[in-house]
Amino acid sequence: MSELDVARALLWETILQREDCPIFRLTYLSQPARPLTDADFDDIESKSIAANHDRDVTGLLIVKDQRILQILEGREAAVRDLYAKIEADPRHHITRLVSAVEDDERCLLTWSMVVRSMKGISSEISQQFDEVYDALLSGQESSITLDHIDLFKTVSLLGQLPFADASSIA
Ligand SMILES: Cc1cc2nc3c(=O)[nH]c(=O)nc-3n(C[C@H](O)[C@H](O)[C@H](O)COP(=O)(O)O)c2cc1C
Repeated sequence: MSELDVARALLWETILQREDCPIFRLTYLSQPARPLTDADFDDIESKSIAANHDRDVTGLLIVKDQRILQILEGREAAVRDLYAKIEADPRHHITRLVSAVEDDERCLLTWSMVVRSMKGISSEISQQFDEVYDALLSGQESSITLDHIDLFKTVSLLGQLPFADASSIA
């Protein structure tokens, strides 16, 4: 076996280990307890990147004014343990635990935790996000679909870091 073959085999083994099913996905909505500052975002992001990596938890966090949405994916114990910490954080109040479900695969495989605002997002996408968010908050929609996740991924990819323009956003 060449070195390249060994490397490929190791990589494949790692991928299989990482993705042995099922995956647990938790989605919640919350509201900031007070206007979140750049220091809050900085603190949340720096803690999340290391802590989520250690727990093998991926996900996304979107903050748009009073609307906060987070999806966490990983092993159930790791996700629940992290959620307990997040839930107790006085910087926000959980308004709805939308869903906590097992799935066959991770949807947010490449995501690390990044706090994003909606600046830089088209008004159409922004409005779509508000509509989906409000439907989830009111219970009119009770589960997270792949379409929702695609929309949230778009927002996460196109949104700018809120502290890029050094203003508080809530
Ligand atoms: C909206 C929001 C999202 C957060 N997301 C995460 C996260 O994904 N991972 C994380 O480690 N901490 C996150 N935090 C921070 C945690 O609530 C908590 O401060 C952090 O886990 C440090 O806890 P510890 O000092 O007890 O270890 C978030 C906080 C808020 C307000």
